[in-house]
Amino acid sequence: MKLLVTGATGYIGSHAVLELLEAGHEVVGVDNLSNSSRESLRRVEALTGKAVPFVQADIRDRGAMAAVLNAGGPADGARAFDAVMHFAGLKAVGESTEQPVAYYENNVAGTLSLLDAMESAGVRRMIFSSSATVYGDPQSVPIAETTPVGSPSNPYGFSKLMIEQILRDLAAADPRWSVALLRYFNPVGAHSSGRIGEDPQGVPNNLVPYISQVAVGRREALSIFGDDYPTPDGTGVRDYIHVVDLARGHVRALEFLVNAGVGQTDPSGQSPRAAGDQAPANCPVWNLGTGRGYSVREAVAAFEKASGRTIPVRVAPRRPGDIAACYADPTLAREQLGWEAEHGLEAMMRDAWRWQRQNPQGYEG
Ligand code: NAD
Ligand code: UFG
Repeated sequence: MKLLVTGATGYIGSHAVLELLEAGHEVVGVDNLSNSSRESLRRVEALTGKAVPFVQADIRDRGAMAAVLNAGGPADGARAFDAVMHFAGLKAVGESTEQPVAYYENNVAGTLSLLDAMESAGVRRMIFSSSATVYGDPQSVPIAETTPVGSPSNPYGFSKLMIEQILRDLAAADPRWSVALLRYFNPVGAHSSGRIGEDPQGVPNNLVPYISQVAVGRREALSIFGDDYPTPDGTGVRDYIHVVDLARGHVRALEFLVNAGVGQTDPSGQSPRAAGDQAPANCPVWNLGTGRGYSVREAVAAFEKASGRTIPVRVAPRRPGDIAACYADPTLAREQLGWEAEHGLEAMMRDAWRWQRQNPQGYEG
């Protein structure tokens, strides 16, 4: 299949492009390079021996997106692309509370512009990067997809919730569309080659990139944001998932949409509704997580073991908006997609460390 991947040079996008190429698909990448480097896709090309045409464009530029989506279509008027994998967006939770308009504009307005361009090109299949943040502070864990979405504690989370709603409404209104909403838990790690990985700009917001930068000597110590949560050791518990497993989940979701014929117009012209709930069947939702939660202290210990380095830590106050524990019930993805995470915490930390050690300053180093 031929895929347009937005956010293709980013952390998860670049790993997904690699897995798509390995699975035999063709990819065109789009990114505005606001939070990533062109170098990531060059490395994907080197690793796979396959070309990835790249267009530097902003998803909010509807004309540019329509041009990309319509380009290179066969002369008989068939579609140029089979699907769009949509990773592009802003993702820093703290920044979103300071610049909410930028977040709604990039994420929500950007997605609307992309959808409009897709419609104009007759490309009506999308895999969307959502987030466990849509569950808010869950009443209980593990979290299944049937858990009602909650109230996210920041504009970033709300932007994901809004996009999910837009996509659900679109799928309900037009049975030709098929959309997969993938709710990621905590993606970490890197490709086992150590050639591509997470390269945050400035001070990392997330735990594993921060630990990695401490290990490589770029930062002094990790602040543990709170050790008085109602968890076994008092620190926050999360479902860390290896980015390669996550990327493979996208390939499975794509195959599901295509093979299950999701989104093909049924004779009634109606969007099929899933039995017993409000989600249209042409807009499935899957959690992508391991089902296992680890605390901050457990993550630090695993990283120390994988790297052989000591990570100095200090306990700091809780970070506003954080919750005690969040981990997935990944049963639905296993049953419907035949997908489950294969890498454990040790492999996640080993690969995160290999990437950081080989690229101490990231792609620009
Ligand atoms: P990333 O910042 O590395 O990748 C996002 C990419 O989108 C970047 O390359 C950036 O330059 C690009 N981009 C941003 N705005 C754009 C625009 N208007 N037009 C074109 N390109 C634009 O982040 P990531 O970790 O790879 O995340 C990918 C997706 O997954 C995002 O939508 C993010 O919200 C979502 N997600 C990430 C996590 C996580 O912890 N990393 C968790 C849940 C969901
Ligand atoms: N943490 C620290 N110190 C740090 C960074 C994080 O103690 O320097 C702790 C946090 O308090 C939390 C855990 O490590 O308990 C994980 O924090 P992250 O920032 O790595 O991840 P979050 O769970 O807060 O959020 C991430 C993404 C969101 C996404 C969410 C989905 O940043 O975009 O996962 O679950 F929505």
